[in-house]
Amino acid sequence: MKTIKDMNLENKKVLIRCDFNVPIKDGNIVDDTRITAALPTIQYALEKKAKVILFSHLGRIKEEADLIKNNLAPVAKRLEELLKRPVTFVEKTRGEILENAINNMNEQDIVLVQNTRYEDLNGKKESKNDPELGAYWASLGDVFVNDAFGTIHRAHASNVGIASHLDSCIGFLIEKELTALKELDNPEHPFIVVLGGAKVADKVGVIENLVKKADKILIGGGMAFTFLKAEGYEIGNSLLDEESIDFCKKIVKAYPDKIVLPVDVAITTEYSEKEEHRVKDISDLEYNEMGLDIGPNTEKLFENYLKEAKIAVWNGPLGVYEFEKYKQGTNHILQFIVDNNIKIILGGGDIVAAASTSGYKDKVYHASTGGGATLEYLEGKTLPGLEAIK
Ligand code: 3PG
Repeated sequence: MKTIKDMNLENKKVLIRCDFNVPIKDGNIVDDTRITAALPTIQYALEKKAKVILFSHLGRIKEEADLIKNNLAPVAKRLEELLKRPVTFVEKTRGEILENAINNMNEQDIVLVQNTRYEDLNGKKESKNDPELGAYWASLGDVFVNDAFGTIHRAHASNVGIASHLDSCIGFLIEKELTALKELDNPEHPFIVVLGGAKVADKVGVIENLVKKADKILIGGGMAFTFLKAEGYEIGNSLLDEESIDFCKKIVKAYPDKIVLPVDVAITTEYSEKEEHRVKDISDLEYNEMGLDIGPNTEKLFENYLKEAKIAVWNGPLGVYEFEKYKQGTNHILQFIVDNNIKIILGGGDIVAAASTSGYKDKVYHASTGGGATLEYLEGKTLPGLEAIK
């Protein structure tokens, strides 16, 4: 697959699709990881004297009211700070203003186009890959670089659409993410998978795809309770994903030595942090109790498998990360991984957000910028944003 290094960029209008879908609160960017992750590609294009035109979506646009909160303007400001050069922000996704801004560019100028999903107000043109929109955006440039790893599982006009009209390649971020994930295609063994998060249903595809090649799948988070229920344990008021019970029974029966469940949990009687932190063996849970985190014996159990791992991947926190008290299991395992230099890929989304708030993100082997994208890769699905470049 062509990468940005295979392209002649000099004096070309280079359209770069980034994933600047960053959390923004009161107009301020809360976490700029995705912006900094896009810098190597942008900087390379500038060094090669390109005219750099950046596209990204932000949030989801369903009605007029979504426009203001999903305006890309704060991203333009942050980019200027990081690149230390002006970024012309065009508040439109099409039309004369945008076309003039691009036609007036000199080498090494940067234009950021308004949130591509503004086009979703008018018949979901971006998200449904409207052919006219993709062709129009492609007509604004000479070369297309897709560097939006976080959006690679979507077939949007701004990735798949543009790529079908222009000489296209991937940028450094997508290259880096794929290089890490490809290590899981034929992994070294022991290969350990850690899964958490709320619902089993969200992870069925990943479990089915990885259980064959993983040596162990360590399960924590809310989803562990559906497995425990399927195994006949009393789970009290813990999270239950009723519809997935049969799946859990089936998978444990088929791979009894591979699925590893918690042996103890931190419990409470109401979904809050009010109560004191208490740990119970998994067979002692009562009808009015709920588990919100893994316990210390489970931490040790998981660590014993992880310390042998040649490679590991982790998706989803092991406890309710929003609550300080129930972060412990996740943080403990993160600390163990960092201390023992375990080669792990954190699969984007909530686990990377957790690692970021607790300061572990930059200390692990690879922390992905794409939650949904990584999950679909791990499910073995085809990624439209990548297929379009191939
Ligand atoms: C993400 O945050 O996972 C990507 O930016 C894709 O966003 P989406 O789920 O709204 O398509």
